[in-house]
Amino acid sequence: MNMNWKLTVFLLFSSSLINGLDASTDKLFVCYYTATGYFPATQVPADLCSHIIYSYGNVSPDGIKPKKSEDVQNYKTILNLKQTNPNLKVLLSLQFGFESVVRAGSDIMTDFTKKAVVFLQNYGFDGVDLDWEFPKASDKENYQQFIKIFKSEVAKVNMLLSMALPNSPFYFKGFDANTLTSYVDFMTAMTYDLHMFKRNIDNSTGYNSPLFTPKGDGKYYSTSAVINFYLTQNITASKLLVGIPTFGRSWTLADPSKHDLHSPAVDKGSPGPYRHFRGVYLYPDACVAKTQGATTVADDVNVAAYLYFNTTWVSYDNIWTIQQKVAWMKSQNLGGVGVWALHLDDNSQVCGQGFLPLLSTIKSNL
Ligand SMILES: *[C@@H]1O[C@H](CO)[C@@H](O)[C@H](O)[C@H]1NC(C)=O
Ligand SMILES: *[C@@H]1O[C@H](CO)[C@@H](O)[C@H](O)[C@H]1NC(C)=O
Ligand SMILES: *[C@@H]1O[C@H](CO)[C@@H](O)[C@H](O)[C@H]1NC(C)=O
Repeated sequence: MNMNWKLTVFLLFSSSLINGLDASTDKLFVCYYTATGYFPATQVPADLCSHIIYSYGNVSPDGIKPKKSEDVQNYKTILNLKQTNPNLKVLLSLQFGFESVVRAGSDIMTDFTKKAVVFLQNYGFDGVDLDWEFPKASDKENYQQFIKIFKSEVAKVNMLLSMALPNSPFYFKGFDANTLTSYVDFMTAMTYDLHMFKRNIDNSTGYNSPLFTPKGDGKYYSTSAVINFYLTQNITASKLLVGIPTFGRSWTLADPSKHDLHSPAVDKGSPGPYRHFRGVYLYPDACVAKTQGATTVADDVNVAAYLYFNTTWVSYDNIWTIQQKVAWMKSQNLGGVGVWALHLDDNSQVCGQGFLPLLSTIKSNL
């Protein structure tokens, strides 16, 4: 009897570890998501992410406005997942229109906030994510006030307040670290888009989201350096999430025989072989390019991956880079990961690694 009881407990415990469903992890797994034709809201799984952040709603003095009219149906589809997984939290991210409220004085801020909370409650959201890209230094005082007002209103109804933080100290001038740590529940550092082709400005191949800063790059051109910047600003580690991209950035090489990191580039990469975006490779694009003969390279010094073929060069994340990033996040006692984005992972299984292989890797490594 006693033996059986122990055996049952052991089996339950070990099977949860094997499935990667160990409910004891306190790390957040925040997934940003935008509904798109190739990844409709009806395909979003209920039991993968701890938080889904629907992107985006707009800010206006009249309250929150859906960005597109079809968003409303998608909010409902995503919020319905809470029936299947009662632990899931669903937030709405706000990106555009902050200026119209934050620069308009505290009465407008308070009025907006009350209307925003009513909007969020009407649909059943668990909270709101602020993604103003980016307040200027001159907005700093007003933005701190806005955050305090917002937090006091959402706290009354037990909603979460989260934020996306820039990938460089340069864009942090309108934020105040003490306010963030005191009033925001968790923050995703957008540690990606560190390099992308810009004519005459960023015109040699570079990594989108390396874990460590490559020799020859500026100090802050990596995930770890940006996170360390926020820690030195005294943002609480347990509230800080490592941003992980499920997309890469593509470049057109000036000379196909020069395909190392920091090789000359003349343009964005031509459209990827699967989703056909210029300058951007979704994870399935990288998989298809590989099957078509692209050469893949793992940089284990900086923890980054790239591929190249003909004049195309792509910096991207794969299962290996993501395993390394999650392990590093845990070693630094950070709060978890925030992914841009759910809809850029492989939902059609062209990689041959199952449904949403990058996100599944995160879940089983948290
Ligand atoms: C990159 O930009 C620099 C600065 O404008 C320019 O001198 C150089 O020719 C560019 N390189 C390529 C490959 O276009
Ligand atoms: C962070 O906290 C430490 C220790 O309290 C302090 O010495 C340092 O000045 C703080 N840094 C900032 C940017 O406020
Ligand atoms: C590379 O270019 C050659 C010749 O233009 C073309 O036949 C081949 O399909 C290209 N490779 C890939 C992977 O696109």
